[in-house]
Amino acid sequence: MANTDVAVLFVCLGNICRSPTAHGVFAKRVTEQGLANQIHIDSAGTGDWHLGEQPDPRTLLAAQQRGYDLSHLRARQVKTTDFDRFDYILAMDRKNLANLQQLQPPHFTGHLRLFLPFGQSAMDEVPDPYAGGTEGFEQVLDMVEQAAEGLLAHLRDGPLNESPPSQ
Ligand code: 4NP
Repeated sequence: MANTDVAVLFVCLGNICRSPTAHGVFAKRVTEQGLANQIHIDSAGTGDWHLGEQPDPRTLLAAQQRGYDLSHLRARQVKTTDFDRFDYILAMDRKNLANLQQLQPPHFTGHLRLFLPFGQSAMDEVPDPYAGGTEGFEQVLDMVEQAAEGLLAHLRDGPLNESPPSQ
């Protein structure tokens, strides 16, 4: 992470559905735009039920059908030191955000906020698809793809624009 200009952490509850989707969707765009050396990306969950697991099989399949390979991702739980390592900590819903706000140390100078408002959606939370059907996983992808575009534009206009060119 030494040479990256911006570090982004996506957070949901279990780290097996929404945040790994955001992680993989955003990472693909970042790589395609030649920014992989400048943007560090990770994802985590506020809960600890699925530590070390791959994304949910429904998440893997829905993502694969749109060209995203999430099979290398493994679930982990958010930790306090994430606030030292990440500039943007982006929550999928208000419950995740509230849990993160409880963990947030006073010296954190980054951005802790909801992810979805970076896109154009009328909604500002990504609904938890875990207990529902396959259409929920498609909806997560639709929302996340749009917000990922907005986040990339935001970083290009802001932090990446302000950074000196990388050597
Ligand atoms: P995620 O979905 O937060 O989008 O990863 C969930 C995954 C697992 C559980 C809840 C939500 N769970 O209760 O185990």
